[in-house]
Amino acid sequence: MMSDNRGSFTSRIGFVLAAAGSAVGLGNIWRFPYLAAKNGGGIFLLIYILLVLTVGIALMTAEITLGRKTGLSVCSAFKKLNKKWAFVGVLGAIVPAIILPYYSVIGGWVLKYMVAFCEGYGATTAEDSFFGGFISSSASPLFWYVIFIGLVTVIIIYGVKKGIERASKILMPLLVILTVIVAIYSIFLPGAAEGLVYYFKPDFSNLSWNGVLSAMSQMFYSLSLAMGIMITYGSYVQKKENIETAVTHIALFDTAIAFLAGLMIIPAVFSFMGPEALNAGPGLMFITLPKVFNSMTAGGFIGATFFILVFFAALTSAISLMEAVVASFQDEFNFSRTKAIIATLIICVILGVPSSMGNGAWSGFLIMGMDFLSFCDYISNNIMMPIVAVLTCVFVGYVIKPQAIIEEVELSNVFKKKKLFELSIKFFAPVCIFIILVSQFV
Ligand code: PHE
Repeated sequence: MMSDNRGSFTSRIGFVLAAAGSAVGLGNIWRFPYLAAKNGGGIFLLIYILLVLTVGIALMTAEITLGRKTGLSVCSAFKKLNKKWAFVGVLGAIVPAIILPYYSVIGGWVLKYMVAFCEGYGATTAEDSFFGGFISSSASPLFWYVIFIGLVTVIIIYGVKKGIERASKILMPLLVILTVIVAIYSIFLPGAAEGLVYYFKPDFSNLSWNGVLSAMSQMFYSLSLAMGIMITYGSYVQKKENIETAVTHIALFDTAIAFLAGLMIIPAVFSFMGPEALNAGPGLMFITLPKVFNSMTAGGFIGATFFILVFFAALTSAISLMEAVVASFQDEFNFSRTKAIIATLIICVILGVPSSMGNGAWSGFLIMGMDFLSFCDYISNNIMMPIVAVLTCVFVGYVIKPQAIIEEVELSNVFKKKKLFELSIKFFAPVCIFIILVSQFV
């Protein structure tokens, strides 16, 4: 069943759903709400949306088109176009290798909650000490991490189309429907109104550089940008595909889900815990949502369904992360598919085990004051992704020139917003990213 050839997506909707499957994941449902909660709510939301519309869409267009143009994954794609810029490809390829292990640790947490709800003891997960107790134990999170990464590996072995396409088609729409239902419920919880104001009303006094940096790194993360994923995906896209509309759909869909996830979680924070809990950090979703489900009629069932869908969203994203790492090993080192998968799994052991243990037995092991999981998240999102993103903009804007991208996009359709694309990729995006990147050091 191992295939050494790259597949291509059978249908337009297949590609859009698979790319959306990569984009929509824990970033939307777990990461966005806790960052929005921590960084001022409405103002974070506003900056996030502005960044998606300007920097995000331009960069995604550039990446998917680079992939399709070269037919290669990230390292080789840069190398093929310009030898001197090959290092950007290498940097980009390292990012998913850092993210995949800790992403899967959190995927494991989701699995744990999913199983808890499916077995009918969802109510215990709503207890105050449950989450902390769970992540600080050693064996249980590690066990769920191994199960999660094992499932991802099985799907990777069966190839692009079968695994990714099939799963995305059915589950993404279901996830949207359930998120809407839970969000509506949350809005009407007692005390939720204050949360709504916090989430919708941009309060400029809550604006900080750190918030802007978080919004930008979240934008890359959520859209799966600046790490070669979309380049690799682009290499599977057929020449007749309309990249411009595909990108718009993916970006809007992804942003809508993040927005809804915030709507599910932030009002509930105010209703159940009060504003102090806005600073809860990475645990926010795992602490808040069980309380929401616990208060709902049929909450056990809804909670179970919800965690099943989040699990699948996490799975499709993790698949795309692993596919990117595996494809890089194949293209760059001429590894066979099997050997590339084994190499990837070795990385998952080296980085994943400390990420999992860092909340418990190894919590004394801090790097720059962060536990290992947060450190991997910080290095990949706040440092490496902005660097890769700036370099990608400079590469497209000044080395191969925007025209090269525009021509490739226009193989199928007229590129309607090409002026905006050119402006963004040459000036707006690189300047913005550069300022935000440097601001964290001064
Ligand atoms: N974009 C995915 C999400 O929002 C996560 C992801 C990050 C996927 C990086 C691939 C690469 O969850």
